[in-house]
Amino acid sequence: MEKRFISFSPPDISELEIAEVAEALRSGWITTGPRTKLLERRLAAYIETGKTDLDCTTPDNIEKYSNRVVCLNSATAAEELNLRILGVGPGDEVIVPAYTYTATASAVIHCGATVKFVDIQKDGDSITHMPEMDYDALEKAITEKTKAVIPVDLGGIVCDYDRIFDIVERKKDLFKPLNDHSTPLADLASRIQSSIGRVAVVCDAAHALGASRVTAGKKKYVGAIADFTSFSFHAVKNFTTAEGGASTWLPIEGVDNSEIYKMYQLLSLHGQNKDALAKTKIGAWEYDIIGPWYKCNMTDIMAAIGLRQLDRYLGLLGKREQIIKKYDAICDELGISHLNHHVEGIDSSNHLYLIRIPSITIEQRNEIIEKMAEQGVATNVHYKPLPMMTAYGKDCSEYPNSYDYYHNLITLPLHTLLSDEDVDYICDILKQTVKDMNIC
Ligand SMILES: Cc1ncc(COP(=O)(O)O)c(C=O)c1O
Repeated sequence: MEKRFISFSPPDISELEIAEVAEALRSGWITTGPRTKLLERRLAAYIETGKTDLDCTTPDNIEKYSNRVVCLNSATAAEELNLRILGVGPGDEVIVPAYTYTATASAVIHCGATVKFVDIQKDGDSITHMPEMDYDALEKAITEKTKAVIPVDLGGIVCDYDRIFDIVERKKDLFKPLNDHSTPLADLASRIQSSIGRVAVVCDAAHALGASRVTAGKKKYVGAIADFTSFSFHAVKNFTTAEGGASTWLPIEGVDNSEIYKMYQLLSLHGQNKDALAKTKIGAWEYDIIGPWYKCNMTDIMAAIGLRQLDRYLGLLGKREQIIKKYDAICDELGISHLNHHVEGIDSSNHLYLIRIPSITIEQRNEIIEKMAEQGVATNVHYKPLPMMTAYGKDCSEYPNSYDYYHNLITLPLHTLLSDEDVDYICDILKQTVKDMNIC
């Protein structure tokens, strides 16, 4: 077998993205502007309809899809702004699965609130095998201080939101909405908390743009399921703007979407009540600073990449699904457990392919990773549970299912630059490695 070199997740950038970036650079408008606004509307249309080709420049669609999605410079910023709009701060608790990337938890800490970790179900969800929160533990973890729970649609597989909404509804009586009208942000957050009237469901969908699940009897795309959602467009994600992310939310009774959208704009641009585009109008130099806030807006150069990625996105998802089918076949042959990305009622965004090799130690897992790397195949581990990390430094024995899930886990390369021959090679190397080690 001739050696190949397989990287883990390079970005898939075509000449279309390159040409659109060049046009943005030549246009004279490179920071947040028309391309960012168009990307926001197209993402809103995609989340609502599953279609990536709706013309979002017509007056009807401008009206329909504006003020629904805010593009930002990362998912971390998107999650933090989701929590800030919700008024999450010191004294509040936010429930986070122990099995996720640090950003899910660090955004909570940036807001001054306390992270409460919850373990995952043993071996993950019984059907998809996704390392999903233990919902009984979630229910127990809710106190009168809990303001939000952050489910993570890990690998692109959508959590059981019917179950999550049931739990937060059942615990409604414990919820004490913020009642602070002293600043515009506190006032908006108080009205949002009162309107939602329970612990908010704030989805971390960093991996899950385009994923869907039947929820409350209806197929819904991620972004149209939880109260608030954050997406990542980082370079390793299915859909990229190099760095980047977006926030979206479900309509909130009694609060206008345009008011919420405006607050995201303020929070992401220093609290300044006129952005650069608005200030270009004749005589419109003067602005106010509403709050001493943050700087995390998306630029039109990033949005240019996103617009052309979105044109290609359904094709990219399809290619990922084909690779998953090949991986499923080899893992089933070898008796290796893997994520199930497409099952009744759930369609994943095919982001990560996690496998768990039965009856191996952590040292054997690491040896497999090394041996595959020696053969040119880069793999990864998603994730080392957060309580094991220095920054969180918790007693790991409180999260046994997370540790157990992690100890024999390997993530195979899954991206759209893989050729059929590359995928066959990865399958062969996996098979050969576990056979050589007498494992499967
Ligand atoms: C689960 C999860 N949440 C949040 C993030 C943060 O994304 P970003 O790098 O866009 O801030 C990541 C990034 O990999 C992630 O995997």
